Amino acid sequence: MKKIAIIDFGGQYTHLIARRIRDLGVYSEIVHPKDFETNKDIVGVIFSGGPQSVNTEDAFRINFDMGKNKIPILGICYGHQLLAKMIGGEIESGENKEYGFTSITCDIENSKLLKDLNSKQKVWMSHGDFVSRLPPDFKITASSDSIKIAAFESEKYFGFQFHPEVTHTENGMKMLDNFVKLCTNERNWNVKNFKEQLITEIREQVRDRKLVLLLSGGVDSLVALELCIQAVGNENVHSIHIDTGFMRQNESREIMDHFAELNFKNIKIIEAEDLYLEELKGVTDPEEKRKMIGKLFVDIANEELTKLSQKEEFLLVQGTIYPDTIESGATDKAALIKTHHNRVSEIEKMLKEGKIIEPIRELYKDEVRKLGEELGLPYKLVHRHPFPGPGLAIRVICSNSSVLQDEHQKEEKQLNKILDEFQMEGKILPIKSVGVQGDFRTYHHPAVVWFKETVSPNWKTINVCSSKVINKLETVNRLVFSINPVDDLQLKELYLEKQNLDALRKVDAFLRNKTDGISEIWQMPVVQLPLRDSQNRLCYVMRPVCSFDAMSASVYEMDFEFLKEITSEIQEFGNTVFYDITTKPPGTIEWE
Ligand code: XMP
Repeated sequence: MKKIAIIDFGGQYTHLIARRIRDLGVYSEIVHPKDFETNKDIVGVIFSGGPQSVNTEDAFRINFDMGKNKIPILGICYGHQLLAKMIGGEIESGENKEYGFTSITCDIENSKLLKDLNSKQKVWMSHGDFVSRLPPDFKITASSDSIKIAAFESEKYFGFQFHPEVTHTENGMKMLDNFVKLCTNERNWNVKNFKEQLITEIREQVRDRKLVLLLSGGVDSLVALELCIQAVGNENVHSIHIDTGFMRQNESREIMDHFAELNFKNIKIIEAEDLYLEELKGVTDPEEKRKMIGKLFVDIANEELTKLSQKEEFLLVQGTIYPDTIESGATDKAALIKTHHNRVSEIEKMLKEGKIIEPIRELYKDEVRKLGEELGLPYKLVHRHPFPGPGLAIRVICSNSSVLQDEHQKEEKQLNKILDEFQMEGKILPIKSVGVQGDFRTYHHPAVVWFKETVSPNWKTINVCSSKVINKLETVNRLVFSINPVDDLQLKELYLEKQNLDALRKVDAFLRNKTDGISEIWQMPVVQLPLRDSQNRLCYVMRPVCSFDAMSASVYEMDFEFLKEITSEIQEFGNTVFYDITTKPPGTIEWE
């Protein structure tokens, strides 16, 4: 089978590139740089992005005979810089860091990859270094305001500093399609074939054993369950739903209703709320919370499995999907962003012992949905918003201190200097949230911003302002917008306690109900902050994002009158709400 090899330099989007190529109908395979060898099936190569700087000594290289090479090679981000270096170009690290949307001007007349597009293109950047010089026989095919060489080409070699694989690069697929055209005209890869392959693989792995699946209630475990049922039959699959107490309002009951409707058998609910709350009492660190939740989950599951395995031999099925693995550094050298629930050490151990199968681990959310539809699951179930394994526990930003730990006066002055040009004002929040910049995890402060009194809010200003602040201020990785000015904010203690979770559940249910019919919203975490405003109202954040596969996300641009209405309704109940205006990157979708 003809394939395109994706060389993995540890970037967040490596698998996404592979996915896009498969979407274009060509099989793709991810290869570690040191394992790469050319063969007759490989019709093209893509060098992925990565967190390193090509100029450092231990940076990934690839042993590749450029002189003998006959197939097209595309370098993306780090790959673009590495390719440029391999052909004799120069790379610099400098001031010109760009994260998020960037406009480039393309030389469409002289480009094979950018042809048939408009000369102005909106693309997604996430880099610090840049290519500063190319050998004479290479053409510069695109530039941005910050960098001259945003894209280059020769007969066989192509470089993009930006990421064509993320959906936020508007014509990224067209660009990749142009690259694929140079590699092959055979396009016969599709999800339908993949479904058959997955079913066969499950049967081979399971043989005469039974399967146990832990149902979170989300789309992934549902699709994994249906896949297993179709592979080995309803009677050979048991499912367990652990109610951790971190579910949203009525969620566990709704899950049972859904499965009754689908006529699934062998489902058991375990009420574990008290156990979780006891275990997580006083814990505030996000990574610690995730690890503890994951461990408890495995312990409970183990107990159930032990009971079941006294009767028969079982394998555990997990609905892990690709973004759950990549952001824990499963790809060599990918920087740790967050420890995902399904990737805690106990699960890794069971994996090594061959006791876990993860049938949809190569798939992205949208592919899981396609697979669900292919399996015949109802549309309304397959298209629900994603919900993280640790649930609301990672949406309560816990704090054990009501005393401000570090002072931000200097940064706050800088912040307000930047905001001034947008007729806005702001405050740096005395809490931290996770983000991702240039393939690295960040754990920095969010800032809250608002428009000065006489100015009407508009999204264009908000978007430009958000990326400018985060690109300029190292201490800030996330921005939230307040419809009203914010005078004073006090840091308070906040823990994973039932009353706090119940309060979050209420606000979350209210906001989800309000935004229910907005199809552009792909997911909307609601986050509880350990902050109270001058009227003693507890602060929440709503984060409606537009995405395709969770690897990148833009902010849903809500009508301001509607946002005002929502905010005042929330305030009637003694709370207040901010609106997250950070794209991914530099923010992650969840706060922790
Ligand atoms: P981030 O916050 O990393 O989230 O941009 C990307 C997508 O993954 C979901 N998410 C998780 N899902 N276990 C999961 O099963 C987890 O620990 C976890 N953390 C984040 C998140 O809701 C988003 O859809």
